Amino acid sequence: MSLDRRRFLALIGATAILAADIPAARRARASSPPGTPSALAPWFAAGTGETEMRRRALAWAVLAPSPHNRQPWSVALEGDDALTLYCRVDRRLPHTDPYDRQITIGLGAFLETLVLAAGEQGAGAEVSLFPQGEPGQRLDERPVARVRFVPGAGRPDPLFEAVLDRRSNKAPYAMDRAIPAHTLGRLTASALRGGRVASATDAATVAAIREVALSAMRLEMETPATAQESIDLLRIGRAEVDASPDGIDLTGAMIEDLAARGILTRENAGAEVASGAPGPILQQMTAYGLAPIEASPSFLWVTTGGNARSDQIAAGRDWMRLNLAATSLGLGLHPLSQALQEFPEMADHAARMRARLDVPPGETLQMLGRLGYGPEVPPSPRWPAAAAIREG
Ligand SMILES: Cc1cc2nc3c(=O)[nH]c(=O)nc-3n(C[C@H](O)[C@H](O)[C@H](O)COP(=O)(O)O)c2cc1C
Repeated sequence: MSLDRRRFLALIGATAILAADIPAARRARASSPPGTPSALAPWFAAGTGETEMRRRALAWAVLAPSPHNRQPWSVALEGDDALTLYCRVDRRLPHTDPYDRQITIGLGAFLETLVLAAGEQGAGAEVSLFPQGEPGQRLDERPVARVRFVPGAGRPDPLFEAVLDRRSNKAPYAMDRAIPAHTLGRLTASALRGGRVASATDAATVAAIREVALSAMRLEMETPATAQESIDLLRIGRAEVDASPDGIDLTGAMIEDLAARGILTRENAGAEVASGAPGPILQQMTAYGLAPIEASPSFLWVTTGGNARSDQIAAGRDWMRLNLAATSLGLGLHPLSQALQEFPEMADHAARMRARLDVPPGETLQMLGRLGYGPEVPPSPRWPAAAAIREG
């Protein structure tokens, strides 16, 4: 058993595991250890059992990051070598992400993982974006992409190795450990899909970015519509998370206890929003959001030259690549989207963040993340790959 695996199992609370070493390369986790919550089973299922090329790739792709962990993807398998990717429009975030920009970025991350997983099987993946046209202000029921798998036309990308270990690492990062320049260079070089990557490591710039990020986090939680949108997506306690493994998952002994005593409920949180005076639940949620921002030694961001849907997909594909490269380099990366959000109340913060990052006029700031050395953290819940396949 490798140390990595031992830590992983400890993190998810599994105890007596006897499994042989995981093959170092292209690790599949073999079978789920006893006691693995069903919401985490997809992290063990990827790479095992399934042999059909597209379904096998899908099992990896569902491990991609998405805003509020909404997993907004669904696919229709077509013929014996193609699939069409759609947005699950019921998984969007209309208040927090009114133009579905972040959701589209999540779909880009999914697509990149699918392409990497095709390459892993020696297959090329021919991607046609928005084959029936790009949606306008909101995504719609039209396809996001058509992907044709071409056996023998692809090859493995080393980034694929990190898919199972990738996290949006929301833990505090070491404030006294600088990222070597060559590491930062390798990281930024991993983005190849059209995103432009920049970073800040100097103390003054980092402090200036942090200040806006903190203020934007408070504003998101003080704005009733966006706060309520997050509350509606809370999954409180293990049973709820396993029943609906998307959204914002809260687990652990203290959560179970507060929920059992009727203190931590969506209704109580909603009542705090309605009252206009944050009570203990909202205060705690805000504190949970602020703490890691305080412990951010560096930031990294992705811009695109335009803001077409294809640009947003490119940004998502590159974010996935950056997140995988960060994982391989031992770095944590954690999106911080509040100051990039497009609901009206956020406009001043968005302008201030653009200024602090020196985003050139005409470019769109697509992703911003904290970057640094942090502890290992457990994976987050996922629906199984089968749930992403459309019937008929
Ligand atoms: C476009 C986009 C925006 C995101 N914004 C945030 C954010 O503002 N704050 C945050 O904590 N996580 C953010 N995330 C990360 C998601 O919460 C995370 O991907 C999800 O919970 C699944 O966890 P994982 O990435 O560790 O698998 C974002 C992810 C994407 C793709």
